[in-house]
Amino acid sequence: MVELLTEALALGMWPLAILTGFLAYFFIVKRDKSAAFKTLIGILATGMLFMAIANYKINFFGESRLLPVSLAMITALAFMMGIYFSSIGALFKIGGFMFLVAAALSGYGNWLPQVEGGFPPPEVKLQFDAMTKEQLADEGEKIIFGGIGQSKVQGAIGKGQCPLCHGFNEGFLSERAPNLFGIPDRSKQRIDDPRYHKGKPAERDSVQKEAFPGAGTGESGQEYISESHACPSCFVVAGFGVKGTNDKESPMPAIHKPPISLSLGELAAVDTWMYAREGRDAPTYEEIIKAYEKFIPEADRPKQQEDKPAAGAGSLLADGTEPVDQIFAKAQCVVCHTIPGIPGATGTQGPKLVEGTNAPNRIKDPAYKGAAKSTPEYIMESVVSPSTYVVKGFPDNLMPKVFGQKLSAGAMKKIVDYLSQVKEGKEPPKIS
Ligand code: HEC
Ligand code: HEC
Repeated sequence: MVELLTEALALGMWPLAILTGFLAYFFIVKRDKSAAFKTLIGILATGMLFMAIANYKINFFGESRLLPVSLAMITALAFMMGIYFSSIGALFKIGGFMFLVAAALSGYGNWLPQVEGGFPPPEVKLQFDAMTKEQLADEGEKIIFGGIGQSKVQGAIGKGQCPLCHGFNEGFLSERAPNLFGIPDRSKQRIDDPRYHKGKPAERDSVQKEAFPGAGTGESGQEYISESHACPSCFVVAGFGVKGTNDKESPMPAIHKPPISLSLGELAAVDTWMYAREGRDAPTYEEIIKAYEKFIPEADRPKQQEDKPAAGAGSLLADGTEPVDQIFAKAQCVVCHTIPGIPGATGTQGPKLVEGTNAPNRIKDPAYKGAAKSTPEYIMESVVSPSTYVVKGFPDNLMPKVFGQKLSAGAMKKIVDYLSQVKEGKEPPKIS
């Protein structure tokens, strides 16, 4: 804006100075108010003309979002000149109208979200087994938080999704899941907890006693951590079980299974980071892999995916071309929500999304203060702005607030269409 004004002044200095001189002359010397007024309008109009030219000059070659501003100014200018020179006013009005139309059109074009084109980032397959511990730890930080150094950033989250539930910094309140600071030491104490039943999995009272028949229990700190990832319900940290199960079942998803599906190499990177960031010497890559092989049978080990470099902050979770079940998986809705008809959507941290039934009731609730009048509107509002109405019995601020920016309009539409049709006690809709 400042740049624009200086440029306009530089361009229009002389005409403006001369007009100002005339203004002073008419007003002070001739005391002709009507001539002074016309000159004032002339100054304003000239100023706007030069601002329009300056704007055009500055922004034309850049990614201009200001072009409509120029056009709108010229429109106003034309109308003003129409008043000024009333004899040819009609001509100015027609010209002004044409500029108005141009301004509206270019304004509309600029208003639409600008889709980033370009090539997808090159795919690289990471060689975890050939990495130093430092490199592994860096990859781990990327998987958990989305980038190197991101562990210090509030709200940062990577494909591992751990920060959805876990706090990682010392002393941080972490109500949904244990704070993972100190896990290298704590894991060694956990296996001696009588509830852990080290070496005697049959004595466990949890819904799942072993990762798979014959897997046994963890015998070392690293094995405890590996088992925690592979079979969260094998041992549930007291107080963190699924509500109403008396800590017999864990809300944590098995990390090697969809939707998170980390490969063993990625899991080793995550663990290495957890040791390294506390200044601990992590077990070797081979030791960590062995600990995972103990709890994840061959057939269940996800193949390492061609790894895309961590997506940038502005990128979309789903672009809307995917079938709706993939959209729910990519956006991680499935981690927290049970969604009838969507495979793998068995989360319990948020309400079951039977929105065809729920939404009308929410809108009727006297405590509802949102703006939605219909089921689709309510769903849209819940996804874009989860705190507008907090479903009773569930915590506020747990559902991420980024979906408005992270889902394309197409993806949002598919979500809304699908969820609107899910009704309690009815067959779920078809996936499209
Ligand atoms: C949906 C929420 C959720 C997500 C996502 C999640 N966890 Fe957990 N995690 C929990 C809960 C709840 C517990 C405690 C209950 C239990 O022992 O299973 C837990 C327990 C753990 C434990 C054992 C902690 C202890 O003090 O004994 C480890 C280690 C762990 N998670 C690591 C991870 C890692 C690493 C990730 C990401 C790759 C992750 N979790 C993702 C909810 C989650
Ligand atoms: C970290 C967990 C989490 C994730 C991820 C999550 N949600 Fe939620 N969601 C919640 C919780 C908790 C609530 C209830 C509290 C509230 O209303 O804000 C909720 C509420 C909702 C509601 C309102 C439900 C009702 O019956 O009134 C909708 C709709 C919803 N979520 C859709 C989604 C969709 C779609 C996604 C993925 C794009 C998603 N959520 C991702 C935790 C989550």
